[in-house]
Amino acid sequence: MIDKLHRKIAEAGYPTPPWDALDAGRFDDHVRARVAAEWEVRARSEARSLVVFASLVPRFTEIGLPIAVTSAASRLLADEARHTELCLRLAGALGGRDSLQLGPDERTIPDEGLPAHLFVARWTVSMFCIGEAASVGMLDELVAQATDPCVRVVAQILASDEHLHDRFGWDLAERVIPTLRDDERAWLEVDLVRGFRHYAAVNGGDGPAIAPQLGAPAKQLLARAFTRRIDDVILPSLEALGLRARDAWARAQVDP
Ligand SMILES: [Fe+2]
Ligand SMILES: [Fe+2]
Repeated sequence: MIDKLHRKIAEAGYPTPPWDALDAGRFDDHVRARVAAEWEVRARSEARSLVVFASLVPRFTEIGLPIAVTSAASRLLADEARHTELCLRLAGALGGRDSLQLGPDERTIPDEGLPAHLFVARWTVSMFCIGEAASVGMLDELVAQATDPCVRVVAQILASDEHLHDRFGWDLAERVIPTLRDDERAWLEVDLVRGFRHYAAVNGGDGPAIAPQLGAPAKQLLARAFTRRIDDVILPSLEALGLRARDAWARAQVDP
């Protein structure tokens, strides 16, 4: 029953990628394996997003956020499950692994004894205001490069969902950050440096394109899209919420 319900939620209203049209046969095994590995990494990160969102949900009611927040968040959980499955299916179709086992430390989010409102603040800022807000820029780039008919649909599904997650995140941040005391805000700014370091390390770097049409463009393209989102959206929006994000970003750069 649960599997059927999940399938319904995961697929209703979404196009089915044309799996038979995946045009990977003209690439050699080595290239296909490298592209598959990229999609496996994406699947793991999508599954990890699901774990973070699932950890946030019980805290939303605990800190008194309206049920609309919990209800809307359930859509995001389903989205991340869909993304995980799509990335895995694509990895499998390219000859990679089509299933995923998260390690014990990837299946939970330690709370480090934080009260619920700070746990929510920390993960709203890092997962949404940096992670999701940056991912839309990189996914838009991926869509632009992915000319393969199947990969393009997969990338478009991911990108359109992530645009919604980006908007959800800023709405959530506007509800959570202004309620913090000054000392909590200062703590969050220190945490922000850690968040910036993490995402800059994950999304930075360089490396030649493997096969842009299959979703593996040059790393620099994605890194540039990341930096653009940081400059154009993330820093000004966090500053508008009263966080000294530009200082935090500068500190993350000095001591990466
Ligand atoms: Fe996702
Ligand atoms: Fe997301």
